[in-house]
This record gives sequence, structure tokens and C-alpha cells, in this order.
Amino acid sequence: MLRQIMEIAQQAGELIRTAADITPEEKTGFRDLVTQYDRQVQALLQNSLRAVLPQAAFLGEEGTFRPDGDALWEFIVDPIDGTTNFVQGFPNCCVSIGLLHRGQMELGVIYNPFTRELYSARRGQGAYRNGRRLQLADRDLQHSLCMFGSSPYYPELTELSLSLFGEIYAHAQDVRRFGSAALDFCYVADGRAGVFYECRLCPWDIAAGSLIAQEAGAVVSTLTGQSLPFDRKCSVAVGAPTAWAQMCSRFAPHIKGWEEML
Ligand code: IPD
Ligand code: CA
Ligand code: CA
Repeated sequence: MLRQIMEIAQQAGELIRTAADITPEEKTGFRDLVTQYDRQVQALLQNSLRAVLPQAAFLGEEGTFRPDGDALWEFIVDPIDGTTNFVQGFPNCCVSIGLLHRGQMELGVIYNPFTRELYSARRGQGAYRNGRRLQLADRDLQHSLCMFGSSPYYPELTELSLSLFGEIYAHAQDVRRFGSAALDFCYVADGRAGVFYECRLCPWDIAAGSLIAQEAGAVVSTLTGQSLPFDRKCSVAVGAPTAWAQMCSRFAPHIKGWEEML
């Protein structure tokens, strides 16, 4: 099944890579965009994944589907993670497909059609980039790049995001903001960055990436150290074990009083 899902992600990626006349529309505000391609890719994923596992429920950023009865399996997909990059021609966006089984992530596939990097993981069986096994090296914060997400659709979190940014900038090697949470997880899995954090993400932003990072040896949690839920929004802290622990303890005083919002 993993192979079939990888092929579907690549087909979906072709729609993104060859897109022309992209027409963005605003969803909740000027930062939150959707294009005809988000919808087209969503439709392709929904049809193709339903053929792979008809009994699965389907949660996507641009639509959901529930079969009759209780579904033990659920696809959680983001048709384009990094829509703003896609609209601006910044080649850092991806298709993200996670498969949840009884509340646990079982499979994760993330594909960036511009770099043709295909990340995949199966629970307990490791994470891969284009067939190469990923195993991150432990390292401390000072020797780590930090991927950062600014929770752009939630202005109520800007103050907290910036205070965490100030803390991490003072202690990490440097900070990067690339605009796709799913790929941020992959860059940690790949060892390109030591840590990643964001104050609020949706299930489709984190489903596949969290498994890929975990299977490569990263610690994955919320900013308050809880395991990630896949049925609601949450914060995210990911990293090589030492850097993750240093980041979380540095963040702790900044988070006091914000717990309810995370
Ligand atoms: C967004 C991207 C971005 C992150 C936002 C996400 P979208 O997803 O992952 O990096 O900062 O929080 O919502 O809207 O492009 O699918
Ligand atoms: Ca997203
Ligand atoms: Ca999206």
C-alpha cells in the first residue's frame, strides 16, 4: 500500500509542478490562500486513495469524507502544504498524505514536486528519502538550524511566536522560515535542521511529517511536551533528542500563561 500511496503523491505532485494560471483566493484573510490547484489535487487524492482503501475516512484541508459506520482507518492529507510558496513561485511546497489507524499514524508520504524529493515512513520500519534510509544524528541546539513556522493565520499567536523566535535565535545556530510545515518535519528527519517548532498547526500539516520525523529518530511533541493529537489543532516541537530537550526547556518560561492557546 505504501508504494501505491507514493505513486499517488507523485501524480498529484505533477499537477503542482506543471501548474499554470494559478488563481489564488483568500480564505480566512489575506495570508490564507486557496487556489484551483489545491482543490484539483485534493480531488485527485480523494479519488485515488479511496480506490486504495475504500473503508478509510478522509480528512483533507479542502474537504472531508466519512464512510458509513466507524472507520478504523483515516487518510489525513494536505493537497498543497505551502500554498503561499506555490502562488509566489517559491519551490518549497508539497503533497502530504498520512494514514491513521486506530489513532496512530501508520504511513506517511510527503512529496516536493520541484525537488522531486519523496519522503516516506511506515510505523516501526524507518523513514526514507527517495529510497535512502534516514537516521538523524543527535546534536545540541548550538549546532542546529531551527525550522520555524509563524502560524500566519492566527494573529493572536504572533506575540508568542516572536518571543519563542527571540529565544531560539539566541541559542540555535540560526533560524529558517521556509513556509511548509510538512517539509519542515522532513528537513529535521533528513538532518538538515536540528529542530522545528510552530505554535498552531492543523492535523493535515502534521500527520505524515510527524511519522517521518519520528521514524528517523526525532522526538515529536507539542510545545508543552504532549504527544500530537490528530483530531484538532495543536502546537509542535520536533527535533534531535538533545536539541529538542534544550529547545523545550528554553521555551517553557515563555509559554507560561499561553497553555490554553496551544
Ligand atoms: C501552512 C504551511 C506553513 C505554516 C502554516 C500552515 P498551508 O500550510 O505549512 O508553513 O506556517 O501554519 O498552515 O496553508 O500552506 O497548507
Ligand atoms: Ca498546510
Ligand atoms: Ca494546504
